[in-house]
Amino acid sequence: MLGKLLSVGLAALLSISSVASATTAPAPGARLIATSDTERQWMTESQVFDLIRRDVHFRDISDIEEYATGAVVPTPQAAMPIPTSLEYQAEVVELHQSIDMHRYLQKLTTFTSFHTRYYESPSGVESTMWLLEEINAATQNGTLPYVEVETFEHRFAQPSIIVRFNGTSKRDKDIVILGSHLDSINTASPATGRAPGADDDGSGTMTLLEIVRILVDHQFRPYLTLEFHFYAAEEVGLLGSAGVAKAYYEKGTIVRGMSQYDMTGYSGYGKIGLIRDYTDPDLGDFLAKLIDEYLLITYEDSLCGYGCSDHASWNNFGYRSIFTFEAPFGKHSPFIHTVNDTVDNIDLNYAKEFVKLGLAFAVEMSFP
Ligand SMILES: *[C@@H]1O[C@H](CO)[C@@H](O)[C@H](O)[C@H]1NC(C)=O
Ligand SMILES: *[C@@H]1O[C@H](CO)[C@@H](O)[C@H](O)[C@H]1NC(C)=O
Ligand SMILES: *[C@@H]1O[C@H](CO)[C@@H](O)[C@H](O)[C@H]1NC(C)=O
Repeated sequence: MLGKLLSVGLAALLSISSVASATTAPAPGARLIATSDTERQWMTESQVFDLIRRDVHFRDISDIEEYATGAVVPTPQAAMPIPTSLEYQAEVVELHQSIDMHRYLQKLTTFTSFHTRYYESPSGVESTMWLLEEINAATQNGTLPYVEVETFEHRFAQPSIIVRFNGTSKRDKDIVILGSHLDSINTASPATGRAPGADDDGSGTMTLLEIVRILVDHQFRPYLTLEFHFYAAEEVGLLGSAGVAKAYYEKGTIVRGMSQYDMTGYSGYGKIGLIRDYTDPDLGDFLAKLIDEYLLITYEDSLCGYGCSDHASWNNFGYRSIFTFEAPFGKHSPFIHTVNDTVDNIDLNYAKEFVKLGLAFAVEMSFP
């Protein structure tokens, strides 16, 4: 989760220039930072840190500048529309029986023991390598020939990780994606502060890991290719997902739907926030159906503002994406981005509902 919704005028607060002046030659090492569809500015790292400390929402669009036009990029829509009804209850409910939250907690505890998962820190890379080993173990190191694990390299050290279940369909460019982010941050001291990131986003990361493990154990084979994305560098402006979405767009990948899991373990409010801005309305309605059918908790529609998590990178490229969050925005965990975002503040029963949701999404979306 990135930042907090600001209600004041950003342009006034931060003297951010409009699109027209964004082409001014940047200083070496500067980043092109967007805080809305129309406000962007080249910033130094310390200016970016200042935004992070103020909890301002932003996207770092330096690597996708040619596509970050303010308008959604035209993208080929999937031949298969978003389902209008649920068809696989028996399969989904059977998979739900295999969820193991003790295992989830054990893995989350190790993941949070790295000092920080900040994208440019040594432990940011070590924690990612640990996660990669866990994913390799969960996928039984290639025992299933149609499951593959790859790292997606960026211009910085921390890679993103992708797990792919090759579908049986001949539509080899049509895919379904579940996303989370593997980095963490301490906003008081971004580069070096202790950042356990249990909720943000250890919870979403472990959600995807648990789902992958269950699908492999059940030898699940989707119809459409199903991918699990663990993005690098979300906290510094959605960098990992921007890189992956750009690469997929450029190779003509067609995405039936992308669903983001970022903060799923804080139950203080007790209802899911179904994020309705910078997301696809039909996919939102579909997630609402999944919640009604499969979960013990319910949801409220909510807005989280500009670029609040990785679904926004897919939205930028015109792909259908959605974000289901632990609470309506603003009612979420007060501990994130601090030393106190620890496993003690994770409600496992609550987090389990999101594992159920992700499993339901994976099955219902990857079949006709
Ligand atoms: C799978 O890979 C992991 C990490 O590389 C390793 O620790 C584990 O022993 C391997 N398991 C098998 C069954 O080969
Ligand atoms: C999955 O499909 C792609 C494209 O059809 C192919 O390149 C790749 O080798 C396949 N991978 C596996 C593990 O089956
Ligand atoms: C962390 O929690 C402790 C104990 O409640 C509190 O004293 C401290 O201020 C918190 N730290 C931050 C950075 O929120």
